[in-house]
Amino acid sequence: MKKFYITTPIYYPNARPHVGSAYTTIACDAIARYKRMCGYDVAFLTGTDEHGEKLQRAADEAGVPVEQFVAEKRKLFKELWRTLGLGEFRSIGEVAAGLSREQEDGGTAPPIKRLFVHTSQNRDHVKSVQWMIRQAKKAGYIYKKRYEGRYCIFDERYVSDNPEPVNCDICGRPAELISEENYFFRLSAFEKPLMELYERHEKDSTFGPFVLPDFRMNEVKSFVKSGLRDISISRKRLKWGIPWPDDPEQVVYVWYDALTSYLTGIGFRGGDKPEPAFEKYWMDPEAERVHMIGKDILRFHAVYWPAFLWAAGLPLPKTVFAHGWIYYEQDKMSKSKGNVVYPEPIIKAFEEFGAPGNDALRYYLLRDTPFGQDANFSYEGLINRYNSDLANDLGNLANRTVTMINRYCGGRVPKPQSALAKSEEDLQETFFGKGEQKQLVADYKSASDAFLMPVPILRVWDGISAVNSYLVEQQPWKLTASNREEDRSRLETVLYTAADLIRTIAVLLHPVIPDSTAKLWVQLGCDGHIRDQKFEDLKWQSLQPGTKVGKPEPVFPRLDKAATLARLNEFAEEDRKRNEAPVAKEKKTVETPPEKKGATGEQPRTTPEVQSGTGLQSVKEGTAGMATPQTAPQISIDDFAKVEMRVGEIISAEPIPKADKLLKLLVDIGTEVRQVCAGIAAYYKPEQLIGMKVVVVTNLQPRKLRGVESNGMIVAASVGDEGRPVLVTFKEDVPKGARLR
Ligand code: MSP
Repeated sequence: MKKFYITTPIYYPNARPHVGSAYTTIACDAIARYKRMCGYDVAFLTGTDEHGEKLQRAADEAGVPVEQFVAEKRKLFKELWRTLGLGEFRSIGEVAAGLSREQEDGGTAPPIKRLFVHTSQNRDHVKSVQWMIRQAKKAGYIYKKRYEGRYCIFDERYVSDNPEPVNCDICGRPAELISEENYFFRLSAFEKPLMELYERHEKDSTFGPFVLPDFRMNEVKSFVKSGLRDISISRKRLKWGIPWPDDPEQVVYVWYDALTSYLTGIGFRGGDKPEPAFEKYWMDPEAERVHMIGKDILRFHAVYWPAFLWAAGLPLPKTVFAHGWIYYEQDKMSKSKGNVVYPEPIIKAFEEFGAPGNDALRYYLLRDTPFGQDANFSYEGLINRYNSDLANDLGNLANRTVTMINRYCGGRVPKPQSALAKSEEDLQETFFGKGEQKQLVADYKSASDAFLMPVPILRVWDGISAVNSYLVEQQPWKLTASNREEDRSRLETVLYTAADLIRTIAVLLHPVIPDSTAKLWVQLGCDGHIRDQKFEDLKWQSLQPGTKVGKPEPVFPRLDKAATLARLNEFAEEDRKRNEAPVAKEKKTVETPPEKKGATGEQPRTTPEVQSGTGLQSVKEGTAGMATPQTAPQISIDDFAKVEMRVGEIISAEPIPKADKLLKLLVDIGTEVRQVCAGIAAYYKPEQLIGMKVVVVTNLQPRKLRGVESNGMIVAASVGDEGRPVLVTFKEDVPKGARLR
């Protein structure tokens, strides 16, 4: 059986988890469930990264011993994952002792192993980190040297390699001066192997890129190409950490410690006999190992981690996926601004109105966050998305169908006619394709395999729209009064077809909205548990005629927006008061959006000898550009009004032969569908674009690009030296055709 191992970052438990941490964990959960559906044996690790000065400081400020502080906070993480319906995460020791057997019984695939690792007071972890260090030392990758520089305690990173005072370029806090005898890791020795690794992955399609999305891979490559310097991996003045092997005066650098938890979490025990799970998910060359992380910690995962593993002679992960950040109402979430969104009040408010809070939140986060990109969270956006997609489209379809089966077919799934009418043939083709032609189900799979959320969801929604249109066209309710056998048989065929396809839709959506699809499954009277359905078993006409359907209870009751918003705000306020009253004092911060760090978490370098090629120049150019932005001559409002910009939805995207940079897009701007050519082929995959709402300049004169007519222009930001286009899109749902003013 194929094995799949997915990890979230190991979170700092210096505060309780918020909707951003929930996003990563939910995304991993959806992927884990999808992989299990594809027949994989799946392990899913999360945990807490408990060492380092940041945690020590937070504990000091709270006036609690650090061991107690992290243990209390650790509980909050486990509790939230439970509240979000992600199940019970246990340590590898507990899982090995059979304690997780009660989870997900039944079905043929083994249950997802949900594992939790914490780094402090964990003997096996300490042993493993020390073993990693010893191995690297034996292999000649560790040496001792005096270190002098500036270090940001809050972000656990070097800010500058010289002693001049400087503020951290991420958080704006003043960086502290450090001068000590340290152990260094010879990262510089891995420049070539790393470049080769990235290239090997790119060339070999069975592996795929080492870093996803592609543009992040490019950023990592240019970082490595610009020259790697050795890094200090021990701390002398810090006590809260793992003691350096054979030199107890020093502790191990927190990232060496944290990254190793991906191994200890599945039963690595340093040099001692590991748990079988480690052999299975890490050592097996066929096992797929994926780290899901935020873009801010990419450098540690795509550069340091492979080098640390190589130095210890261990295999590497297959893919590092760097997602974007969740903002609140276009702003970075921050405790000091009081705008951090927590999931608990959302779930409570939705459930008060009978709506599935967990699934609504999962759906919103996965549907409205193009993977790899930043996204905006708003309560209004969440309610709108829930009402329009879950309550209206899917909920109504399921409810209508089950109601009609109850009312007109005695509550049993009817039998379809043996010969298909054209309308059913079309639906079959939409879902399953014809012959070699790939269709919805196949597209869903290829997009899911490439972590291309929300494309799989959009494909399923195409299916939901197709079944809804089918019911509207066929009007089965009109056939109920007729005594003609033909009409009766049509009625039964139409209701069967709708119910059968809702079954398929439920299975496809199960990884995204597990609880609600399990309810739909029961309403359709299907056998067993939906989570045990296999992707490869999905086929046309799977539903058993004669099956007794359940009561048509709405799975997604429609929410009154104003009332729900009011409750949401009320609960969020209550939650804030309850949890944040005794907050540790935060140091004065200058909030800087995470983009400022650069996606690899790289900061401008200050040591001249480590600059290579044009690296220094480009940093300077970037900084100058930010300080004195170029401005165009002023125009009047009338001039601006001449430009007509409208919201458009991309409905198809394809490459243009012999024009590498261009994509041909069909964009629905409400009143018509426009063909537009855009020079974005190097940065966006066609399937990523489908369903995206973009800004179209609609009153440009049409022109031909490489012989293809382009009728309009898509607006994009031009980012970085290479002018990478980033399409302008919307954080809230906006109707097609809306004018931008
Ligand atoms: N402890 C390290 C990770 C070690 S992994 C071996 C760490 N912890 S963290 O708690 O600061 O961040 C954990 C993850 O949460 C990061 O991937 C970060 O990008 C992510 N997020 C924190 N805030 C976020 C949002 N607002 N939105 C999405 N993810 C964000 O870094």
